[in-house]
Amino acid sequence: MKRIIFLFTVLVIPFITLLSQSNKKDSPMIEKSVFGKMKDGKEVYMYTLKNKPGAEAKIITYGATVVSITAPDRNGKYADVTLGYDNLEGYENGTGYLGALVGRYANRIAGAKFTLDGKTYLLSANEGKNQLHGGKTGFSKDLWKAEPIEGKAGPALKLTLVSPDGDQGYPGKVTLQVIYTLTNDNELRIDYKGTTDKTTILNPTHHSYFNLTGVFTNTILNHQVKIDADYYTPIDKESIPTGKIEKVEDTPLDFRKLTTIGSRINDNFEQLKLANGYDFNYVLNNYNGKVREVADVYEPTTGRYLQIFTDQPGLQFYTGNFLSETPVGKNGVAYKFRTGFAMEAEHYPNSPNEPEWPSVVLKPGQTYRQTTIYKFSTK
Ligand code: BGC
Repeated sequence: MKRIIFLFTVLVIPFITLLSQSNKKDSPMIEKSVFGKMKDGKEVYMYTLKNKPGAEAKIITYGATVVSITAPDRNGKYADVTLGYDNLEGYENGTGYLGALVGRYANRIAGAKFTLDGKTYLLSANEGKNQLHGGKTGFSKDLWKAEPIEGKAGPALKLTLVSPDGDQGYPGKVTLQVIYTLTNDNELRIDYKGTTDKTTILNPTHHSYFNLTGVFTNTILNHQVKIDADYYTPIDKESIPTGKIEKVEDTPLDFRKLTTIGSRINDNFEQLKLANGYDFNYVLNNYNGKVREVADVYEPTTGRYLQIFTDQPGLQFYTGNFLSETPVGKNGVAYKFRTGFAMEAEHYPNSPNEPEWPSVVLKPGQTYRQTTIYKFSTK
């Protein structure tokens, strides 16, 4: 008997342990299912990440899109806090970039062109003559390859996209890897890594819209926002930066103290009128390439609290001023004006045409990196 116990301990237990480790892809923390088929017949998968406290994030391979994230309220009740669609057609036909991974260049490029090393590149224009969020079929419309990984911090999904030379007019073949981790501290952590084979520009972002009430018939006007930025980049009537950098002080764009979104959104301030609400790039304080806390959002009725950390120089704060009721959102709810807000960590809009601003150029041999974290808790 002793001999059997001994053999069991020495041989069988380590074997089982080894087997379970080599089988990490089947871990119960990450589940894979079919989400739908693209118009061209390709299958799109959904991965559900579950962390130890019980939060869930659902991510699809189309556009490396976050379909939902659940977060607890002050009574521990979990609810989905990001806007999205129930099916793939929603994501294929939608124009709001709900939950998407946007690139190559997040935000706007004036005239859909830029010059690099003396050569002018003409990009695909998809907002009048300008480019928005990477062009007609940018990264948010591409099918990504996914690989689940069980990181130390929590379940994670590695998504990879190879964007060919000339994609949407951009030079160079770019390989971008994005790792979404749902940490056991209820953070959605996003780590980006990009390379190119020719000098190019790269400035991706993540484009979730949040509504911390968890009820998408509510607007986000009662949420309170704080953004650590003394300056912003004012826009013209096409939402292209004028090239100036101006103080937020004494304007309704000042969010240096926690302020209710709706309290000044209708103020008679030219920039707010041009953007139809908040849709501005904030020049974040303390930019030095390191991750720091840059913004936070509090929803008083549920107590949900969102903190945003990033190593990026800019943050686009957008209050869903152009949200469309079609396609209809999750659970049959049509998203009205200001049902969600986005906090997009990125470089300033139109930087490729503003040589004084932090550079977005990526050369062969260099590695583009970004880390952005959305942390959910309650207060
Ligand atoms: C932009 C908005 C735009 C929205 C959806 C945001 O990132 O700042 O101007 O309407 O994306 O396309």
